[in-house]
Amino acid sequence: MPKLLYLEASPRKERSHSSDVANEFMESYRESHPTDEIDVINVWDLDLPAVNGEMLNARYAIAHGQQITAEQEIAWKQVVEIFERFNSATKYLFSLPMWNFGVPYRLKHFIDVITQPGLAFNFSPESGYQGLVTGRPAAVVYARGGEYGIESGVEDMDFQKPYFDVWLKFIGFTDIRPVVVEPTMKGEEMVNLVKAFNRDHIRKIAQEV
Ligand SMILES: Cc1cc2nc3c(=O)[nH]c(=O)nc-3n(C[C@H](O)[C@H](O)[C@H](O)COP(=O)(O)O)c2cc1C
Repeated sequence: MPKLLYLEASPRKERSHSSDVANEFMESYRESHPTDEIDVINVWDLDLPAVNGEMLNARYAIAHGQQITAEQEIAWKQVVEIFERFNSATKYLFSLPMWNFGVPYRLKHFIDVITQPGLAFNFSPESGYQGLVTGRPAAVVYARGGEYGIESGVEDMDFQKPYFDVWLKFIGFTDIRPVVVEPTMKGEEMVNLVKAFNRDHIRKIAQEV
């Protein structure tokens, strides 16, 4: 059964521009795929385990086939549950704001929780890194207050889109369809123009995936 997972990274709910454009995708997706299962996760609503020393000890002990403590087992079980919910989809939609040139820390926390060897990727000295989340399309909505496109003169300050794109590829995605919503901080008129410009594009992606 096809399943869409929508991972939302803005905490601003109905005021969020990334969520607003992603909702356009969702509306179009529901029309074109009426029987598909849909799961929506806002990273700010998740109870994420700390990626601390104990968690990392568990990660390396498991990777080396060693025993883990009862406490580590509880923390690791939480990691596996969150990863399995993420990995259970056949298609993905992500929406994320730029925060201080990168991604919101809660999204980074989610990434640090689920990007585990044996779950999201494998490593061997012979073949290097191999992503395990393969064969699934991903649409990504990026919102930023400023403009960071080619020839903006500040392209090298964008650590949001390049970072997220590298992460998706690292864990195995190859079919990645980005939609950039910028600038969102130059007034309502500009935002409406930008959203109108992206509307057909995002609706088409939703129909195609
Ligand atoms: C904590 C914080 C940091 C931000 N940092 C940047 C930034 O570095 N560059 C930028 O262009 N906009 C920045 N912004 C503006 C947001 O990227 C912009 O408001 C965007 O629309 C947020 O996405 P959202 O509307 O989906 O929440 C920042 C906003 C916040 C709240």
